[in-house]
Formats: sequence, structure tokens, C-alpha cells
Amino acid sequence: MRRLSDNVVVLGNGYFNFYLVGKEEAVLLECGTRAGAAVFKQEWEGLEDKPAVKYIVILHSHFDHACGIPILKELFPDAEVLGSAAAQKFLSKEKIVKDLYRNDAILSECYFKNGLLQEKPDTSELDFIGVDRAVAEGDILELEPGLQLKFIDAPGHSVCSIAAYLASDQAMFVSDATGYRSSKDDMTPVFFQGYDLYTSTIEKLMSYPTQIVGVAHGDIPLGNDVEGFYQNTLLAAEEGFDFIKTRLNEGMDEKELAKILFDRYIKGGLAYYPEEMMLGSMHLLIKNVKGK
Ligand SMILES: [Fe+2]
Repeated sequence: MRRLSDNVVVLGNGYFNFYLVGKEEAVLLECGTRAGAAVFKQEWEGLEDKPAVKYIVILHSHFDHACGIPILKELFPDAEVLGSAAAQKFLSKEKIVKDLYRNDAILSECYFKNGLLQEKPDTSELDFIGVDRAVAEGDILELEPGLQLKFIDAPGHSVCSIAAYLASDQAMFVSDATGYRSSKDDMTPVFFQGYDLYTSTIEKLMSYPTQIVGVAHGDIPLGNDVEGFYQNTLLAAEEGFDFIKTRLNEGMDEKELAKILFDRYIKGGLAYYPEEMMLGSMHLLIKNVKGK
């Protein structure tokens, strides 16, 4: 566990960050995969001073942000699960949830093979992932007097993405809305829903005074690094867009381009993800450039 500010700590192995906000009563932001949640559970069980987790927030419904729920619900059975209305809808569908767990199983296997997990995580699946309450732009979660978490719609990465802002600590929990940072210098743009939505979300999020950017994966930008981080995310999106546009204008075959993008962007923690799914994601980038 690492303390980031008065009211914010982070747990997890860095590939999946889990944020706890609040000292006595807390909200858990991010749910990770089953593998990520297993790492969280181990760490959580070793902690002496623990807050009571009252809420769990699914910041978007991709498999690596929702599949940890069975493990987390076992740890915090009374916690209320919050997410966007779109996430609530997706996660209520058996076929979608089955697909999420299929990808989750591939990632767990890959973690295990590469020694990131000592034992395979619990493979229990759910037919649906229950979101108890839908939240949207402007909704406030009051943890204690003066400690308020404000939800912000954050589309562009996915239609179901939300962010959350803790004004008291100037912490912005962005999930994947600002890209995937596989190393300090490598940023993968992830405008899987749409390019304009993605960049305007980043611009909206960066307009809040921020000392902590609660990214879902990788190093957490803090203090003086925040501004540069946001600028880099925008730059990575712009460069990615131009790169794809240029190749398409040159007549490059989309399959070939997806493969080039895969080699360029699927690094670090993303290299453990299912290949077929990541190639599909690269096709989404191409589609969203073509559509403009
Ligand atoms: Fe995502």
C-alpha cells in the first residue's frame, strides 16, 4: 500500500491500480481483473489499519476493470457498487459478461505463466456483474463531511467511462480515459469510442486543479508531473491519429496497419492481454480515424 495524500492510498501491483479514498469509511475505485483483485486481496489482508469499504466504483466496464468484482464482493459483501448507466446495462448482459471472463481467463493464465501470480486466481464467474447504482456527471458521493467525490462523464475511451474527482486532495481518478501508460515515455492512445470525445474528455479532466492522476494502469502522475502527463496523452492521441490517417491515405491495408499499431502500442502490461482482443482494439483506432 502506498499513501498518495491525506485521504488516498493505492494498492495493487502497478499493472492494476486500486485506489482507496477515505480513512474510516472508504470508497474503492477500480476493480481490475481477477488476477489484479487477487493481488489486491493479498495486500489488503496483510494490512493492519483498514477502513470500512462502503462503495466500489467500476469506472468503466472493460474486462480489466470489472472482472475483479467477485473477489472484491467477497471481501466487501455490503459495499454498494457504482458505475455509469451504460456500464450497468452492459454488465447486466450474460453474453457480454461471459466474454469479459473469457478474456480475463487468458490474462490470468498469462500472468501465471510469467510468474506475476504465484497461484491461479479464483475462477468463479458471475452471469452478470451487478451495478447497484448508476452515477453520472455532477453526482456527488459524500464519504464524510468535507470529503466528497464528484463523478464526471469521461467518454471517448468507451461509452461507459466515468472519472471521479476528490477536490480536497486534488485527485482525479481517470481509469483509462487518458490512455495507457506502459512506461514513463510510452503512452498508448485508446480512443476506442471516438477521437474527438477522447481528446475533449482529456481537456475537461485537465481543467481541474490536480496533484494526483489516478490512472488504472502503471505509474501514477503526481504533482509537477501532472501537466506534462496530460500534455503527453494529448500528444500521443494526436500522433496516433496522424500516423493512422497518413497510412490510410497511402492506401495501406487495414489488417497490415493494425499489426503495425499492435507492435507500436502493445507493450508493458498490455503485452499480457489477449492478442486477438488487442488487435481488435487497434482496428477500433483505425475505424475511428476513418470515420472523421
Ligand atoms: Fe479500458
